Amino acid sequence: MTVSTVEDAREQRVRLLDRVENRLDGLLAHERERWAYVDPRAAAPIGDIAALVSAGGKRLRPTFCLLGHLAAGGSPTSSLIVDCAAGLELIHVGALIHDDVLDAAETRRGAPTAHVRRIREHNDNGWKGEARRYGEGTAILAGDLADILADRLTAGLPVQARPVWNELLTEIIIGQHLDVAVAAESLVDPEISRWIAVCKSGRYSIHRPLLLGAAVTGREDLAPAFEAYGEALGEAFQLRDDLIDAFGDSDVAGKPVGLDLEQHKMTLLLSLAAEQDPEVRSLIEKPRWDLPRLQDRLESTGVGQVVEERIDHLVDSAVGALQGAGLGAPWRSELTALAHEVAYRSR
Ligand code: IPE
Ligand code: IPE
Ligand code: MG
Ligand code: MG
Ligand code: MG
Repeated sequence: MTVSTVEDAREQRVRLLDRVENRLDGLLAHERERWAYVDPRAAAPIGDIAALVSAGGKRLRPTFCLLGHLAAGGSPTSSLIVDCAAGLELIHVGALIHDDVLDAAETRRGAPTAHVRRIREHNDNGWKGEARRYGEGTAILAGDLADILADRLTAGLPVQARPVWNELLTEIIIGQHLDVAVAAESLVDPEISRWIAVCKSGRYSIHRPLLLGAAVTGREDLAPAFEAYGEALGEAFQLRDDLIDAFGDSDVAGKPVGLDLEQHKMTLLLSLAAEQDPEVRSLIEKPRWDLPRLQDRLESTGVGQVVEERIDHLVDSAVGALQGAGLGAPWRSELTALAHEVAYRSR
């Protein structure tokens, strides 16, 4: 299906995204009711998922999936793509619930994280056992359930799209494992930090959702352009996330800032700073990090500016990759606008 104007393109995307919201709300309400009928406690994991979905978020993964599909000439009324985009948001929600346990984060999307709410519930009720184990354990279950619901939503994916879906799921886990493992070892290696950023975040957020949308429509020919766009923009996306953590505002971001340093995370930002400044390098080679000094040093080395320039360059490459890819002008312009939104966001 072709569209002739940017307004038409935008309208198709917005309409489909509305349907994604309804699909998520409908599925979660149905599951909640079904399990609450057994016992109110049985519906708690659904409640944790629903709380995060309704707290908002930028809905980047569904958006990229819908754009990949529409730009590939897919139907603007497809229910399959709505389910697939909703499944991607659920995979993301599951990854966030787990990530907040891994990172000991207390807030997400402007509200307390799932495990923190459950720890408080345990404490407030004076229940038996360790509150932390209860909170983190139940959050892991809620994250797993989000993955299972996502799998249900994507059961109808055509055979050519399955490898993309499987790869996306695997990359999140491997990327998250490496993120934690490299932090534990304090490994300073910009190449591995870059790879982690792309794998734990960029691929499942941008590159794979685009490919998935195009694969559903059978347009594998768009894969090279979407890959080049997605890999570059995916790195920019995670670099912005690192900048928000290092220099941002938690009220705006809706999640804590400063956690990466606190947890010895070898972010791409930090490894670039270590490459450019021997003092940063020596500070992070110490077994215990002096956080105030490290933060000061990050501010004074100007690594923020280096990262901003790298983001500019990555956005240019991403947008450049769309030229000559056989995409209609309105879709190219939508993907260009989104590249800017993703790379220059403050939350
Ligand atoms: C946060 O993703 C987790 C990362 C992969 C860095 P988003 O920045 O897309 O978070 P929401 O969905 O808008 O909350
Ligand atoms: C999270 O990366 C990546 C996934 C959720 C898979 P971060 O740990 O950097 O994300 P935030 O900063 O907590 O959102
Ligand atoms: Mg985190
Ligand atoms: Mg993390
Ligand atoms: Mg982060």
